[in-house]
Amino acid sequence: MKNSRVPKIVCVVGARPNFMKIAPIMEALVSAPRALRAHLVHTGQHYDAAMKHQFFTQLGIPHPDIDLGVGSGSHAVQTAEIMHRFEPVLDAERPQAVLVVGDVNSTIACALVASKKGVPVIHVEAGLRSYDRAMPEEINRVLTDQISDLLFITERSARDNLLREGVADERIRFAGNVMIDTLMRHVKQATPAEQTLAAVTDSAPFLAGSTGFGVLTLHRPSNVDDPVVLGRLLTVLREISEDLPLIFPIHPRTEARIAQAGLAGLLDTPRIQRLPPLGYLEMLGLMSRARLVLTDSGGIQEETTALGVPCITLRENTERPITVEQGTNTIAGTDAVKIMAAVSDVLKNGGKAGRVPELWDGRAAQRIAAALCEWLP
Ligand code: UD1
Repeated sequence: MKNSRVPKIVCVVGARPNFMKIAPIMEALVSAPRALRAHLVHTGQHYDAAMKHQFFTQLGIPHPDIDLGVGSGSHAVQTAEIMHRFEPVLDAERPQAVLVVGDVNSTIACALVASKKGVPVIHVEAGLRSYDRAMPEEINRVLTDQISDLLFITERSARDNLLREGVADERIRFAGNVMIDTLMRHVKQATPAEQTLAAVTDSAPFLAGSTGFGVLTLHRPSNVDDPVVLGRLLTVLREISEDLPLIFPIHPRTEARIAQAGLAGLLDTPRIQRLPPLGYLEMLGLMSRARLVLTDSGGIQEETTALGVPCITLRENTERPITVEQGTNTIAGTDAVKIMAAVSDVLKNGGKAGRVPELWDGRAAQRIAAALCEWLP
């Protein structure tokens, strides 16, 4: 076959936060210094148009070569189903390596299949640790890193974490942050906040006057699955909205949990604008104009640091410590007093200014592609 001597890499995506990471990698692999073939496999972990299609279109990600169509399920079912469906793909594709990103169930499932078949695994965004094993993503991170052959890190602390877990130093490369590559590439085309709001609502209370608005996201199982925790959070968020109106694009999981817990009434105020899950450009447009962002997402902690927008993280820990040490992130947890204190600090004093961390410069994917050209046989 004509191309059989050109190394082939199977790249895997599955869930929303994977898409902005894979976009610059796919592009960099195509224009790498050495000819490489990159095949994209989508596991189908996220499948709703709002959680999937608009990201492919907006970020120019090539149509997946293969869609495993897995869908939702318990962790065991979802992970097992991805493994079951990915194995024959690997048998047919016979790549030189499998590249996985982030920490979702698709990441560990495909890494595990590849590793057991003797196919080298490349992990992008390795070494991040919250040291909270109650987070499903933490399990995915630790296990994926243990079976990866080449590990690309976004911040220097990740190397220390990996070395502590016995990963050989020569497997680790400090490449920077591919998610920030995507942010830098698209920030100028971000959809203006007015346009996003006008599409669904009379935006007057949010954008009129000088108070501005905050953006809120919430989807971690630890925050939304327990009705007591969820109720406590929504109560404090409603209180915050009296000082600063909040825009709340709601993840399908959170939407379902709010309805099941009978808590929708807490959001029933003109000061909280609920929106469906947004596309990348719409979300970027809102975040870059926000006075602050309240979130339990990992990626948003990094994006707000890159944007210089104060971030208040509604979790007790972070696997991305550089966003606190150098960036705009404050860990507030889920305690109402701490959250209110963090918000009022931002509203009174403007919050942390922060700086953009080392190698979050828009060229991480190029560094990854160059490293792969050297590393592949
Ligand atoms: C997953 C990731 C999480 C990431 C998040 C971003 C894992 C363990 N978790 O969590 O790290 O931050 O994606 O969104 O992989 N649903 C839909 N439509 C979809 C996808 C999901 O309605 O397209 C609903 C389903 O009810 C599903 C639930 O959301 O059961 C949860 O989806 P799932 O992929 O299991 O986990 P996320 O909470 O999205």
